[in-house]
Amino acid sequence: MTTIWNANLYDQKHDFVSKFGGSLVDLLAPQKNERILDVGCGTGDLAHEIAALGANVQGIDASHDMIIAAQQKYPDITFQTMDTTVLRMTNQFDAVFSNAALHWMKLQDEVIKNIYSALKQGGRFVAEMGGHGNIASIVWALQKSMDELKLSYIEEFFPWYFPTLEEYQSKLEDAGFTVEKITLYERPTLLQGDTGLRNWLVMFSNNMLQHLSESEKEQIYAKCEELLKPKFYQDHQWVADYCRLRFVAIKK
Ligand code: BEZ
Repeated sequence: MTTIWNANLYDQKHDFVSKFGGSLVDLLAPQKNERILDVGCGTGDLAHEIAALGANVQGIDASHDMIIAAQQKYPDITFQTMDTTVLRMTNQFDAVFSNAALHWMKLQDEVIKNIYSALKQGGRFVAEMGGHGNIASIVWALQKSMDELKLSYIEEFFPWYFPTLEEYQSKLEDAGFTVEKITLYERPTLLQGDTGLRNWLVMFSNNMLQHLSESEKEQIYAKCEELLKPKFYQDHQWVADYCRLRFVAIKK
């Protein structure tokens, strides 16, 4: 399944993805001249932040549009269009970093295996992704809207992987990592303005709604707003029920 990203819309309306990731860079604690791979780098803001601390950063993303935008913004950083399931690098990086990207990768065993291989011995994998329960209310509203509007919900179009802490820790350990820290926490996330939820749905529900016409999609957006408004809208502000899985794992 291919996800089509609109890099402009992403930067204008969804820059919260990189802004919230800020403290993940603190957890990474990049050192001068370290080689760091940013997996799912998007439009490159966090790669830039890491590079500004003196590390030698390389960013990869499966979306070519995102990589073009990243390269235009930060010409001094090396960016490459690449799906992490086909990453073939061995013992090259001191750290692999990833923010809000791993949950888009359904072939997670492949991804973890390739990241393990790309790290040097003793290298660290520092990441945050959507975990179990992430956007559960939005997913519920999408499914209920389709149901009420008599539109078919197609399970295989669901594009995300939101694992429990235990499940992900096992995957990391099975690949050979020692998990140093791992936590799953709720992080309600503001979606800017009155149209915040709608903008989010336009940007991120493409995969789930790919079989529907534009007018059917419009009906879904409106229905989702109606269903979620009582609990997730206040003072002209929408909130999304994000849950983050954050970890540090070491290649020993
Ligand atoms: C997330 O960062 O959790 C996320 C963003 C967009 C779609 C799904 C999840």
